[in-house]
Amino acid sequence: MEVIRGIRQMQEKALTVRAAGRSIALVPTMGFLHEGHLELMRVGRRLCDVLVISIFVNPTQFGPSEDFDQYPRDEEGDLQKARDVGVDLVFIPTAREMYPEGFQSVVHVERVTQGLCGTSRPGHFDGVTTVVAKLFNIVGPDVAVFGQKDYQQLTAISRMVTDLNMPVKIVGVPTVREPDGLAMSSRNKYLDQEERASALSLKKSLDLAERMLAEGETDAGVVRQAVESLILEHPHTRIDYVTLCDPVSLEEVTRLGEETLLALAVHVGRTRLIDNRVIRKGTPGPPEDEGAS
Ligand code: PAJ
Repeated sequence: MEVIRGIRQMQEKALTVRAAGRSIALVPTMGFLHEGHLELMRVGRRLCDVLVISIFVNPTQFGPSEDFDQYPRDEEGDLQKARDVGVDLVFIPTAREMYPEGFQSVVHVERVTQGLCGTSRPGHFDGVTTVVAKLFNIVGPDVAVFGQKDYQQLTAISRMVTDLNMPVKIVGVPTVREPDGLAMSSRNKYLDQEERASALSLKKSLDLAERMLAEGETDAGVVRQAVESLILEHPHTRIDYVTLCDPVSLEEVTRLGEETLLALAVHVGRTRLIDNRVIRKGTPGPPEDEGAS
């Protein structure tokens, strides 16, 4: 496994790989790798000849009062995990080279970035789509793999690639969870024991909504109320949003259709967590106590 830190070196390496007729999969990350990230890498590994990951805590996607400085970092540990899943190349650029003096360009995706996390994190998705566009230009991947855990991010990136004719196939991977159902996240590290228990309210409320739909409830307002109550029964929780929306346009719905996205963002103590699920009519809901231990 090779570690490359310079942009020019990464571009040259990618050119050599492609000139040899080999395909490239890219998995962009901000590091502090967990099983969710590793699953994306395994998918990329299967799809292409050469697997490249990037590790870059991207400053432009953090708001001024967010956790950029505290964001967990562990380069040594990350490199070991990457080696173990069979990564070929790790690209670790510096912020100084990614955003040099005079940098002033932005890739902005309009409507799908407006609701959900776009409301409480203004500018966040501009930071994401701009850095991902840069990574695509630097690495030139055939395939890029992203997690459905960040559903709106995956939607915005897919939209960007379609709208701007970027020659890369976007692959989405289902959310990887802890045994009790908590979605894996680098930010779970911030949770103390009580908060960790309350964090399970996100997954429980996805189950509740799915059960309500299975039992015939289609009023989005009623489902949202029930979800909000369930979350707030847990200590240390503060709701950022509970949104039922169309899984493609991300526009809010008042009635649950064949497929509805339930997306959540909840502060648990000082940690902001997100989760989501596409709930479908005609699917039996999960049992009441599933994963609740
Ligand atoms: P990061 O939060 O490090 O996540 C990197 C990738 O891992 C994203 O595609 C994310 O959706 C995926 N991921 C995270 N947790 C997951 C889980 N539990 N199951 C499945 N996939 C999971 O997302 C970012 O970094 C950044 O915004 C980035 C795209 C790298 C741009 O800076």
